[in-house]
Amino acid sequence: MPTTCVVGILWGDEGKGKVIDYLAADTDFVVRFGGGHNAGHTLVLPPSVAGEGKLVLHLVPSGIVHPHTVNVIGNGVVVDPIHLCEEVSMLEQRGLPVELGRNLLVSERAHVILEAHRRQDQWAEKVRGSGRIGTTGRGIGPAYSDRCARVGIRVGDLCRPDALRAALTALAEQKDALFGSAGLEPLDREQMFEQLRAAGEQLRPGIVDTGRALRDARLAGKRVLLEGAQGCLLDVEHGTYPFVTSSHASTGGAFSGTGMPPHEMHTIGIVKAYATRVGEGPFPTELHDETGDALRKAGNEYGSTTGRPRRCGWFDAVAVRYSGALSGVDELVLTCFDVMRGFPLRLATAYRTADGGTTTDLPAFDLDGVEPVFEELPGFDEDICDVRDYEALPQNARDYVAAIERHTGLRVGTISVGPGRDQVIRRAHP
Ligand code: IMP
Repeated sequence: MPTTCVVGILWGDEGKGKVIDYLAADTDFVVRFGGGHNAGHTLVLPPSVAGEGKLVLHLVPSGIVHPHTVNVIGNGVVVDPIHLCEEVSMLEQRGLPVELGRNLLVSERAHVILEAHRRQDQWAEKVRGSGRIGTTGRGIGPAYSDRCARVGIRVGDLCRPDALRAALTALAEQKDALFGSAGLEPLDREQMFEQLRAAGEQLRPGIVDTGRALRDARLAGKRVLLEGAQGCLLDVEHGTYPFVTSSHASTGGAFSGTGMPPHEMHTIGIVKAYATRVGEGPFPTELHDETGDALRKAGNEYGSTTGRPRRCGWFDAVAVRYSGALSGVDELVLTCFDVMRGFPLRLATAYRTADGGTTTDLPAFDLDGVEPVFEELPGFDEDICDVRDYEALPQNARDYVAAIERHTGLRVGTISVGPGRDQVIRRAHP
């Protein structure tokens, strides 16, 4: 049975949480393979599931709302153990039981985000000045850097007090040298040790070799759903570098970040009917006018992790085609389609480059200098939130979907027309 992998196509915030929520209903394992609590996966559930209001998950996989699923934080994730304990308590307060070792497993190989990483992240952003990346300030980049520099601490170390103390001392010496030269306070090593040890005690029943658990699960024919975080254009290697996150957010990260060997995978790319981005970096179809403000208002485009207003723009078929090819996307889920009501339907089909040429590829350099070539279609004024049958969509809406398919070369298999679990249009396979 192929594994299903869900990835964001542009810069994250495409509405992956909702898609994973409905796919998880038919899945045994839901697995995060990269990123950390920089992610924010928003679920709008019936009050009978988690009480009133939205549920925003940052680290725990979205399958946690389904009693039968095993949720796995894979080795490719960077884990802030204190944040994880708080997220577990929040879930329990919302009436969602979390039993470490049964419905939540954490890889012993995943790297730990420390207070030192958070401070380093925020300090580095200040030093970058106008060249800042606009990170979430949660220590993601420094934690991954320390993993590569082979000085990181792994989740399994939280349950090995002597090893934890030794690793923490070595790391704190390096960080304090850096912080001292920057005029920052030294770290409180004893407090860090005690907090990490306490978190390790709480998480201990769930800290396992998740790679082995997942390989065994696949051999036993279990259904596995891989939950991507962020989006392909934030991938550290394939994204809009250096304005990216520090993990492999495209499908490529799914193997190394879980410990499952390459095998058949059905990849679903999530993309909004328009485009958004938080943080700095190039965004060719960005709107700097009142239409952009109106899209932000209509789509309630504010970051679920930091609350920052998201930058808004038109659908970018060049970028979507690039990410789709890179991630081996089999089908697209088009989200927030209801938000486009009353807007013109415009999509970028190519870029004009600074040297006067035209390209349909996403360039690795100077993306901020390209000018999009747009195709514009007439919009629709009808409320589509209650539509469940594709043929019942207004003709202009269907023409836009057809244009997206034509220019991206990808099939739109599902359309989301509202935040609720049931607000989806599933199209029959041709
Ligand atoms: P970092 O991941 O905190 O280092 O931030 C690097 C870049 O990725 C910044 O532009 C962030 O705004 C962006 N980013 C990180 N996580 C997310 C996410 O879940 N959604 C959207 N953007 C994100």
